[in-house]
Amino acid sequence: MSEVWNKVYKSDNAFFGQEASNFALLCFNHMKMNNVRRLLEIGAGHGRDTIFFASNGIEVDAVDYSVIAVEILDRLAKEKRQPIKPRVFDVKSALPFPNGYFDAVYSHMLLNMRFSLEDLHFIFSEIRRVLKPKGFNFFSVRNHNDKSYGEGIEVDKGIYDINGYQVRFFTEKEIQDLMEGFEMLWMGEEYEDPVDLYIVFSKKL
Ligand SMILES: C[S@@+](CC[C@H](N)C(=O)[O-])C[C@H]1O[C@@H](n2cnc3c(N)ncnc32)[C@H](O)[C@@H]1O
Repeated sequence: MSEVWNKVYKSDNAFFGQEASNFALLCFNHMKMNNVRRLLEIGAGHGRDTIFFASNGIEVDAVDYSVIAVEILDRLAKEKRQPIKPRVFDVKSALPFPNGYFDAVYSHMLLNMRFSLEDLHFIFSEIRRVLKPKGFNFFSVRNHNDKSYGEGIEVDKGIYDINGYQVRFFTEKEIQDLMEGFEMLWMGEEYEDPVDLYIVFSKKL
């Protein structure tokens, strides 16, 4: 499936735009208030948010399974002299970082990709493992109010193929069910054209 994203990023090196997302700006405020210094971004894409966090003094590790995305981000980081070392990595495997290493983990629209509920429980357990005690997990996922919800063909339980993109649309309950070992600090809804998202701030218990 990384081939789909390789194609996207090959045809447009800045598919998600050059500017940081609204979600990144929101999270950054919270990070600043809570002294987040070391951050892991998973599913970083071409790094619009990664570059923003790094430019604002946060030490960021970034992973994505698209080789092309990682090449673009690596090039951008060098151009902007930001010490980011992005890695090609599939988050269905154990994260390549030690226990308790990060102050926060951040992902924007990654966890609604083609992951089974079992995969998601594993990914959350890995996020928890690499977080320091009381570390933050900031994430956004597409939800049932999204205008594409109900379109496409169901390719796996709860996953819909819409023009080649495979997406899960989360309910609040599905998010609550993933919160084992985390405290939910805040959950909101945000429209980032063209998608409707649940955005979640949570903290390792
Ligand atoms: C919707 S894009 C969001 C990219 C980025 N977070 C942003 O907002 O600009 C989802 C990203 O997740 C990556 N991705 C999907 N499945 C993945 C997996 N199993 N492991 C790592 N990255 C994955 C894709 O390559 C893509 O870059």
